[in-house]
Amino acid sequence: MSILFDPSTSVFHLSNDRVSYIFRLAGGKYPMHVHWGRRVRKVTDRMIERRTIWTEETFSLNETAFDFLPMECPTFAGDLREGMIHVIHENGMSALLLEYESHRIMTGKPALGALPSARGEGAESLLLTLRDKVSGVAVELCYTIYSDVDVIARSARIINGGKTAVTVDKALSACVDFEGYDFNLTTLSGAWTRERQMYTRPLVPGDQGTSSTRGASSVQTSPFMMLARKDATEERGEVYGFALCYSGGFEASVHVDQHFISRAQIGIQPFNFSWQLQPGEDFQTPEAYLCYSCEGMGGMSRSFHALVHNHITTGKFAHSTRPILCNNWEATYFDFNEEKLLSLALCAKEADIDLFVLDDGWFGHRNGDNSSLGDWFDDLNKLPKGLRHLSDEIHALGLKFGLWIEPEMISVDSELYRAHPDWCIHVPGYPRIEYRNQLVLDLSRDEVRDHIVDVIIAALDRGNVDYVKWDMNRFINMWGSASLPAQRQQELGHRYILGVYDMMRRITQAFPDVLFESCAGGGGRFDLGMMCFMPQGWCTDDTDAWMRCKIQHSTSFVFPPSTMGAHVSAVPNHQTGRSTPLATRAAVAMSGTYGYEFDLTNLPAEEIAEIRKLNKRVRQLQPLLFYGDYYRLVSPYEGNEAAWMTVSGDKREAVVTHVCAQAVPNMKDKLMRLAGLDPNLTYRDEDTGMTYGGDELMYYGIIIKKPWGDYMSQQFYLKAID
Ligand code: DGJ
Repeated sequence: MSILFDPSTSVFHLSNDRVSYIFRLAGGKYPMHVHWGRRVRKVTDRMIERRTIWTEETFSLNETAFDFLPMECPTFAGDLREGMIHVIHENGMSALLLEYESHRIMTGKPALGALPSARGEGAESLLLTLRDKVSGVAVELCYTIYSDVDVIARSARIINGGKTAVTVDKALSACVDFEGYDFNLTTLSGAWTRERQMYTRPLVPGDQGTSSTRGASSVQTSPFMMLARKDATEERGEVYGFALCYSGGFEASVHVDQHFISRAQIGIQPFNFSWQLQPGEDFQTPEAYLCYSCEGMGGMSRSFHALVHNHITTGKFAHSTRPILCNNWEATYFDFNEEKLLSLALCAKEADIDLFVLDDGWFGHRNGDNSSLGDWFDDLNKLPKGLRHLSDEIHALGLKFGLWIEPEMISVDSELYRAHPDWCIHVPGYPRIEYRNQLVLDLSRDEVRDHIVDVIIAALDRGNVDYVKWDMNRFINMWGSASLPAQRQQELGHRYILGVYDMMRRITQAFPDVLFESCAGGGGRFDLGMMCFMPQGWCTDDTDAWMRCKIQHSTSFVFPPSTMGAHVSAVPNHQTGRSTPLATRAAVAMSGTYGYEFDLTNLPAEEIAEIRKLNKRVRQLQPLLFYGDYYRLVSPYEGNEAAWMTVSGDKREAVVTHVCAQAVPNMKDKLMRLAGLDPNLTYRDEDTGMTYGGDELMYYGIIIKKPWGDYMSQQFYLKAID
């Protein structure tokens, strides 16, 4: 892995054993993209002449050269396409002509101030400073290349080096121009209980992409896009993935221009965003991850998974297995008391579960979703002896104890709101529009954050908790802060997210031994920003096994199973009314962090026994399922079946899971080819004792028995025997 600068050609070449990212300072000044893809050993004149040949002498601002050159950091100066950074000067006019000033190559990577970002073990970074000579505004582009993952991390820092204030009204993190538009674009869109559904279409001239204006990465979309060559498949062909380490509004876009250049960009949502920079101040963009794979979409995902495990997740649980949990939400909703909780916990213990989680409704006087958010004191009607007593009882059963919180919100019916009606985000004179009967706290304000951090830490201390589920059940509109001046109101979206990160940093650091799981009304903030603080997130409120196959399939584009909160729940399922076999619900949920979310007190003894058996299997397979290499075998978006597998790093173990939705009459057994195994090894199916060659499994296939009944699953645990 290296970052090389050749002063004779002004070429920067970032490479590891597999990938090159190359750009050149055209005319010695303007960074122009040359190549991002499979590694090339040497940057030749032919490569740099193509599109970026542009010397001091031939450069003329009267040519529309910028408009078709592959800019690394376009700014709407000469280039008429959408830029990456847009700045308005004190005179109200906007211009930014960025020229090379200096660069620095460092081992590791710099931290991004208050923003979360990937760590830099085994990495090298290039800091490239560009400056607009007229205004003094500078942009520092940061590029990081890793030796272990095929990801380039990019971000930008805008520095007001001038003498007057400027307003930044667009600050994206990365831009790459590709020649041609021979790509399929995949983005993830959805809704509550059907998050991150996969949508693929060919690029066309003009604009396309995905974005969120909701103040969160959202259930409707996801800060990710993938450009795949038209011949790319799961395991073959070129794929470019873009993901953002950010939990607020974002934009990921591709503009195919008049010359069929495809400009891909990703960063903070520019709508309703601006940031004032006084002389000497700077603005840091979130970090974007640009992943190149020549091994199809599967290769991209395995790189992203390694990025998450090796550089993003942190803390005690980041690289370990997780406790099997039982959450009371779908078992009781708001209708519980201590007695009911303890009888559920007792059954959880009998079922060999590790952790009991008390979800929403334990505080204030919250018997529905219309009160008490902000009042983080125990509801003594439901828990007459308080949270600590319940926690002690649960610990006495030999279970760990977990607690739900929603620190970012406030109910109008709360003591907090009565004391501080201006602490919520609102626009004076306009109605305070509630969603899920709640308002959002203005976390840009220090005093609001300080108060919430104090009361939440007190509650978690009181509950002596081992696990926390941090929820966030509404998105934000009507943006207004009682504490920001008029010209800074459009900073609120980003300041809110910085406030969330600040609270998460303080609260998670106060409890280093506690496992934290993020959640947002299901999977409404399932993003890399959250993963920097919490190693797992609740993937969706949809616990239906078949819908989960789809959601987990597309979530796995970026996220490994160790990050995906997944539970076995009741049948008929509470979100779809569908009934699926327990074995299938478990097979799907164990490709996530695994737990149960239904009333165990009503289960027949045989089912409790079945759950004990399943838990044994989960404990045995979890290290492999979490940290092995992930292969998607059959896409549930293409038909009636889904299949995926995980292979250990040394290829000596694998778990294969296949689910068939509807049984069809007169079906035959099927052959399914596996992936990622060692062709020269012999594997034994640990459940049946049957043996197979790795070559046989990958090049011929394994037999999938025709299902008898709907939503049947088959799982194979394979171990090498030679
Ligand atoms: C939304 C979450 O996704 C659910 O699991 C549950 O915690 C509810 N909120 C509680 O209000």
